[in-house]
Amino acid sequence: MRFPNRLVLSAMAGINDWEFARNFQAGFLILGGFNADRKAMEAGIRALKRGRKEFIFEDPISGIEDQLKKAVEDGRNKGINIRSSSLKGYVDSARLASEYGAVVEINAHCRQPEFLEIGCGQSLMFNPDRLVRIVDTVSKYSEVIVKIRGGLELDYTSISERIFEAGAFMIHIDAMVPGGGADYEIVREISRMGNVIGNNSIRDAESAKRMIDSGAKLVSLARMVLRDKDIFKKLLRDDVLASSIEVI
Ligand SMILES: Cc1cc2nc3c(=O)[nH]c(=O)nc-3n(C[C@H](O)[C@H](O)[C@H](O)COP(=O)(O)O)c2cc1C
Repeated sequence: MRFPNRLVLSAMAGINDWEFARNFQAGFLILGGFNADRKAMEAGIRALKRGRKEFIFEDPISGIEDQLKKAVEDGRNKGINIRSSSLKGYVDSARLASEYGAVVEINAHCRQPEFLEIGCGQSLMFNPDRLVRIVDTVSKYSEVIVKIRGGLELDYTSISERIFEAGAFMIHIDAMVPGGGADYEIVREISRMGNVIGNNSIRDAESAKRMIDSGAKLVSLARMVLRDKDIFKKLLRDDVLASSIEVI
């Protein structure tokens, strides 16, 4: 996949629909997170009721398809960040992604209790056999990225190795450190095994380039985008961040 620059708009549930994402100059736009089956959507509704932002669709897969339809004319690289309690939800999303020229990002990152209860998000990191089965199946339908979270008591080397072996094209690591900041060492470690999108606490060219220096092919931002809608424009003044890259 060819990326025109090193920057990624990272998923934000209830925020990153196409109307929002299209405004940014990042070389890769991740839409969602979306809930891809009934159980995940019900979890989303429960999360919404306690004040979280969520995309709520009457029919989960049609809702995701509507977003991809809106985005299809735009030739930029797009992904859909997906939570599902069933394998079918991931497969249905991957079929759509492939049809509309996007890639699937499996959300093994979310830690909201409503989603953990139904085996979504971060709970997949604690059930690597299941995560690997999902990646293995879904990668038959579209390119797959797996979004994971750092800072947990886990063997990241072994899990990452298994994710890549199962057919993931990239790992998107939220290299969070409990208490704040990013763990660049984990980015370095996973980058030895395969393609990485580095994430957490990117706020300027210096922190973004530190991710690249640590081995990440691409660098993603979420909260900073809400604080400064021109952040990608500003980061693209830097030659390294503005340079294109072929990721295979
Ligand atoms: C409002 C909001 C919603 C988010 N929703 C999702 C989501 O649906 N899926 C996901 O993988 N990450 C989600 N994230 C996590 C971000 O993509 C990112 O990993 C995290 O905020 C750390 O990066 P940052 O320091 O650039 O914000 C969300 C973050 C925020 C602030």
